[in-house]
Amino acid sequence: MNPVSAIMTRKNGISILLFLFLPVILMAQSSVQTRMGRIGFTFLLDNKGTPTYAATYDGLPLIQPSTLGFILENNQDMSTGFEWTGTDSTSKDETWKPVWGEVNEIRNKYKEITVHLKQRSPARLLDISFRLFEDGLAFRYNFPAQPTLNYFIVTDELTHFNMAGDHKAFWIPGDYDSNEYPYATSALSGINNKALVNRSTDIAVRTVTDSTSVQTPLMMKSRESLYINIHEAALLDYPAMQLHVDGATHQLTSNLVPDAVGNKAYLHAPFHTPWRTVIVSDKAVDILSSKMILNLNEPSKIKNTSWIRPMKFVGVWWEMQTGIGGWNYSTGADNKDANGQLIPSGKHSANTANVKRYIDFAARNNIGGVLVEGWNTGWEDWFGNWKENVFDFVTPYPDFNVAELQAYAEKNGVQLIMHNETSGSATNYERQMDTAFRFMKKFGYHSVKTGYVGRIIPRGEHHDGQWMVQHYTRVADKAASYEVMIDVHEPMRPTGLQRTYPNWMASEAGRGNEFNAFSKGNEPEHETILPFTRLIGGPMDYTPGIFKLKYYTTDTSRQVHTTLAKQLALYITIYSPLQMAADLPQNYEAHPDAFQFIRDVPVDWDDTKIVEAEPGDYVTIARKEKGKPNWFIGAITDENSRTAVVPLTFLDKGAKYVATIYADGPGADWKLYPEKYTITKMNVDQSTRLTLRLAKGGGAAVSIVPAEVSGKSKRSTN
Ligand code: NOJ
Ligand code: CA
Repeated sequence: MNPVSAIMTRKNGISILLFLFLPVILMAQSSVQTRMGRIGFTFLLDNKGTPTYAATYDGLPLIQPSTLGFILENNQDMSTGFEWTGTDSTSKDETWKPVWGEVNEIRNKYKEITVHLKQRSPARLLDISFRLFEDGLAFRYNFPAQPTLNYFIVTDELTHFNMAGDHKAFWIPGDYDSNEYPYATSALSGINNKALVNRSTDIAVRTVTDSTSVQTPLMMKSRESLYINIHEAALLDYPAMQLHVDGATHQLTSNLVPDAVGNKAYLHAPFHTPWRTVIVSDKAVDILSSKMILNLNEPSKIKNTSWIRPMKFVGVWWEMQTGIGGWNYSTGADNKDANGQLIPSGKHSANTANVKRYIDFAARNNIGGVLVEGWNTGWEDWFGNWKENVFDFVTPYPDFNVAELQAYAEKNGVQLIMHNETSGSATNYERQMDTAFRFMKKFGYHSVKTGYVGRIIPRGEHHDGQWMVQHYTRVADKAASYEVMIDVHEPMRPTGLQRTYPNWMASEAGRGNEFNAFSKGNEPEHETILPFTRLIGGPMDYTPGIFKLKYYTTDTSRQVHTTLAKQLALYITIYSPLQMAADLPQNYEAHPDAFQFIRDVPVDWDDTKIVEAEPGDYVTIARKEKGKPNWFIGAITDENSRTAVVPLTFLDKGAKYVATIYADGPGADWKLYPEKYTITKMNVDQSTRLTLRLAKGGGAAVSIVPAEVSGKSKRSTN
């Protein structure tokens, strides 16, 4: 390339302007600009040779010029002194079908620019790929194979997002070991996580070293009502990215979760990092319908996916969380009789008779699975000792008959769901994994809930560091090889990997309903923020469906901060292909009419319409059941009551339907009368505008079926 020329080329609608004023020693200014819909994008090398990008939305600043780069081991700078050696551009417009999900077809339309950069001495290559979508942009770093950068250690990633204002942010602390905090809402300048971290004693392991760091997905709203979400996609072989917030300049800087010795990532070129994502719209609903994160992940690695089946499940679980029963067989690991046998406490929930009760309940109620926790030995001292060999994942307690229960479940058309709590000892799980999965295969378990409560082993590693990211992926791979679906508790938050590993059905990685059992719980606004934050990366095992909202534990001050109708609505507003009906069978049997919604609601969808949404305030979503003409609606609100209006324009033209509306009853509210609800039926069609009245902390759930079907099912049950 001629070094003293100004070149303008046009490829795929991308203008490339190169002004290289050599020999002013390679510190040249150059830039490339492009746009996609309302998103404008610029890349340039600044006068220090630092890669810099900026983005606009409708011409307004979205990301102010922000620099990119790395610090490698021994303080080697990989952020300045770059030359720009070339640019590639490409574009794509395709549709693909997820194995399961919120919609049955996803459009992936983007423009991509890859800039090739070179540092002089030592000679090192770095490529950065930018993808522009109609709903935002994403970029990732590629380290090409090269002689002077082969095996290397990243000590810092210097990705910046310079925000254009002091946006309102919905955030949780940048904790290396937990995403289970309640959300805080403040301006960027007001972010300080110290008090929140200190008072969150209900979180098992807390590791926060930076008082202005936050987790992603970070949801923001500008003064001009622009909704901006920053996260990452396809987090593989690399630590999770958190953001350090500079309150004065509104600059966000990537902060990678370190390993046991303080390094961030051990890489071997060629390597590319996960995508850094910015989703943007002037409409909050667009953030919830964005498919950017999924589109940035690779297609399924699993060729035959026919064994992957979304399902609902119940579990021997809430009775443990609420203290009615327990995981452990005995009160202590040393509580043994003269023969060296554990002395039973009499409160062990995972006993054969009790599990059969749950199997019967599931079989009666169109529920596919029964999760059983606490079935295997080791629960007497599983937590808090940083002990390596806690569980072997195959030895049942004496009162849990594996073969008998397998036969009983099979006879009743129900699947048992395995539980593998590792207590954070990932090394132990790695050693036992094959044995554990062989056991599942032998005894008919097609899914497993794993868990990582406690400090991680290898000691010094964190839940969200590179080592553990690799571990969770190895488990997903291993599970796939045994045709087992997984639901991971306490991993790093999802980044769309469910596209690549469609057997990775759900994760917790956030503050679930269970906090209402063992702590002060979740505020009424919590579930209105989750879709904009935690759920941006993928499904959450939130465990909705609590019907007994007060007096479910001996601590009578505890209560779930929602109404019963809102618990039903969560089946729609919090998507998961493995969805729990979390309450006790007897609490459902006390409300068979309301429980009908849980019996009916599916977990896999053809279509989704985000009707209305505002983070921290309300969310209303309508979804169409996969392969069926039925629609389901969930509407939730925060601590304020509200009226949600849902025009049913998505129904088939000319078709008649019957809607069943499960709403907050007169006088209901989350605090005093959470269990008041009403159920009404009405004829609806495409022209109907449903008016749903939501109580404080309330919600509404609606099922809509073709009138013909509704009539038939009435006749058959009569
Ligand atoms: C924490 C999980 O979130 C919960 O669901 C599970 O019951 C316990 N760990 C025990 O594994
Ligand atoms: Ca948890």
